[in-house]
Amino acid sequence: MADSDMYGIRSAFLDFIDDPFRVAASPSYRFFEDGLLVVSEGKIEAFGSYQRLRSHYPDIPIISHPHRLILPGFIDTHIHYPQTEIIASYGEQLLEWLDRYAFPAEQQFRDPDHARRVASFFLDELLRNGTTTAVVMTTIFPESATVFFEEAQRRNMRAIAGLMMMDRNAPEELLDTPQLAYDRNKKLIETWHNIDRLNYAITPRFAITSTPEQLEVAGQLKREYTDAYVHTHLSENCEELKTVSRLFPESRDYLEVYEKFGLAGDRSIFAHCIHLNDSEFRRLSESGAAIAFCPTSNLFIGSGLFNLEKAKSTSNPIPVGLATDVGGGTSFSMLKTMGTAYQVAQLRGQNLSPWQAFYLATLGAAKALHLDHYIGNFDIGKEADFVVLDWRSTPGMKFRNPRDEIESPEELADVLFSLMILGCDRAVDATYIAGELAGDRDLG
Ligand code: GUN
Ligand code: ZN
Repeated sequence: MADSDMYGIRSAFLDFIDDPFRVAASPSYRFFEDGLLVVSEGKIEAFGSYQRLRSHYPDIPIISHPHRLILPGFIDTHIHYPQTEIIASYGEQLLEWLDRYAFPAEQQFRDPDHARRVASFFLDELLRNGTTTAVVMTTIFPESATVFFEEAQRRNMRAIAGLMMMDRNAPEELLDTPQLAYDRNKKLIETWHNIDRLNYAITPRFAITSTPEQLEVAGQLKREYTDAYVHTHLSENCEELKTVSRLFPESRDYLEVYEKFGLAGDRSIFAHCIHLNDSEFRRLSESGAAIAFCPTSNLFIGSGLFNLEKAKSTSNPIPVGLATDVGGGTSFSMLKTMGTAYQVAQLRGQNLSPWQAFYLATLGAAKALHLDHYIGNFDIGKEADFVVLDWRSTPGMKFRNPRDEIESPEELADVLFSLMILGCDRAVDATYIAGELAGDRDLG
C-alpha cells in the first residue's frame, strides 16, 4: 500500500554493502543501471531494479534522473565551520597557520549574527557539494555552537558537533576554563545531543590547547554522557608532536595523552593521524576509535602523507572516513577529497581504487561514526539522503566520458574514477536530505 507521500526515484544507483578494502570490489557494492529507490516519510521503503520493483508500487509518482548516478549522501568526518572564510590562506604550516589565520577568524564568532551567517553559508555549501552528514568543529563561544545546531536542524541535516574547548596556548579572547567548559558543554549536550538528526561531540581542540585539568573535564563529560562523541586532532604535524611531548612529558606518545583522560574509545574521532607510531596504530585499532583522513589539508598545510594502507590493514584495522578539514583543507567537495586521497596514496606507493574511495565517503564513514543504522547506503529503513551525480558536467568531463549510460562494472569503475579525479561541485546535480530536494545545481 502506497502512502500519499510515497514516491520513487528512477536513475542509475550505486551503494556499498561491504568494505572493498577487505573483500573484492564486486561483492562490496550494488549497482542498478536502471534502478528505483522508493522513499516514504524520509526513509527508504524499497530499493532495486526498476523493472522488478515498479509493479509493486504502480501508483506512486516517479522522479526520473536520466543519465545520472545516485549515491548515498557524502559524509565529511572532520570540518571546521568557522574556518569557511579562511580557506586558501597562504604560506604557513599548522602552528603558524593557526596563529595567523584560524585564531583571528574564530574570534569573530563571539558575534552570534556572524556565526549564523557563516553557518548558513557553510551548510548550504556542504549540500551543494553533495555532503549530507558532517562532523563539525565550532569555536569556544557557546552561541557559535547553538546557531550551528539550529541551522543544521532547520535543514534537517545529520551533524555531529560540539563546543570547542581551549584553555591555553591560544589568544586570551579564545580561552575558556575547565569549569566554564564543563558547564557550557553540559548545557549544550542536554539541549542538542540526540535531538532530531544531531549528535554531540566533546571537542577539545587538540592536546596543545588544553591543560590536563581541561582534558580531565572532557573525560568526565564523556563518562557522564557515554554515547556522546569525542572529536579532536591527533598527530598531524611534526612541530605539533614536539610541543605535545614537551607539554605532556609523562606520556610516551601523543595518543596516550588522550587515553589517560578516557578520550580514546569507540566514539572518538581523531583527525589526521599522520605520524602515528606502531603502538599508536595498534592501540587505536583496539580502542575502536575512528580516523578522519584529510588529504587536501594534509598537502595544503604540508603536514604529511597519511598511511591509509596501514590503517585499513587486516592486522590492525581502524575505521577511516574521508574529511575535507576546511579551512586547512582546500575544498568542500568530497569528490575532490577522494581525488586527493588517491594522490596521497600514490605518493606512498599505495593504491586507492574508486570503490574504496567512494566507500570511505559513504558506508565506511557511516560505520566509523556508528551511524550506519541510519545512513551510508540504501538499505530499507535508512534515511533517504542521497546525491545525484553527473559524470558529464563540464566540457572536459563530457570529452573524457563520451557515453551517457553505464552498462558494465568496468564502465562504472571508470566513471567513478573520472568523477573523483575531475569532479567538483559542478558534478553534483542535486542533493536530497531525508527524501527532500535540498540543493540543486540550477539553484546555485
Ligand atoms: N589542529 C588543531 N587545530 C587545528 C585546526 O584548526 N586545523 C587543523 N588542520 N589542525 C588543527
Ligand atoms: Zn581540523
